[in-house]
Amino acid sequence: MAEFAGAFAASHGPLLIREWQAIPAGQQKRLAFAYEELGRRLAAANPDVVVVVVPDHWANFALDNYPAFCVGVGEVNEGPPEPWMKDFPYKTLPGHAGFALHFVEQSLQHDFEPAVSHRLKLDHGVCIPLWKMNLPRLPRIVPLIVNSIEPPLPSISRCLELGRVLKKAITSYEKDIRVAILATGGLSHSVGEKTMGEIDEELDNQCIRLFSASEEKLLKFLEKKLPRAGNGTEEIRNWLVAHGAAGGRGFELVDYLPVPTVIVGCGYAAWSVAPLRN
Ligand SMILES: [Fe+2]
Repeated sequence: MAEFAGAFAASHGPLLIREWQAIPAGQQKRLAFAYEELGRRLAAANPDVVVVVVPDHWANFALDNYPAFCVGVGEVNEGPPEPWMKDFPYKTLPGHAGFALHFVEQSLQHDFEPAVSHRLKLDHGVCIPLWKMNLPRLPRIVPLIVNSIEPPLPSISRCLELGRVLKKAITSYEKDIRVAILATGGLSHSVGEKTMGEIDEELDNQCIRLFSASEEKLLKFLEKKLPRAGNGTEEIRNWLVAHGAAGGRGFELVDYLPVPTVIVGCGYAAWSVAPLRN
């Protein structure tokens, strides 16, 4: 049977590539370390498959059709379409149709009806973290797109619940593979709005604290705060999916730092596979 190999989360943002050289040296060093540390931990978890939980930044979907959830069920997905991601080392990324379809079937059995796609373009949301993590080998990637881009958005509690279903799908899959989760996006940021560039450090710190404190308080906090935080902050939904899959246990914070140059409150976290000692 398949095994759950761990859950991880990392921020993304176009300026982490486009303005990397402009980031002050101290912050650049911390960011590089945080991505690489997460990469080391992900590699140590030895996953055959990584479910990457991510929004679609209009690479595949737009206003004519934007699903709340979509699972990439192809054996192959395409690399990032953004011109400024042209140096990303992979033009295609292998998928895992068997597990992806099993996840879709499990979702249907547990009151979720995700869209499916047999060939997705994996934009910077997937590829920036994978790139900066410096993984020694690229695992198979099953994309799970969660709409945090085009309102109306799926609720915070449904994202948490989908994570629980994802965990059930992993532990009920008949093949002996290891499956990890990588949630990408958040924490606070605002793109193309009046508040563009603002980072709500207080919201980020409170959110980080609540992930380890109380699921109920975390949900209430996010339900109240997210609609008034920057639009990019909505991507915290992806962290909720990872949190649900990890059984709601708190994560270990690898680092958090607000980086004005890239206009993102950058967070990096790893959920423990084993029960936390306390
Ligand atoms: Fe994003």
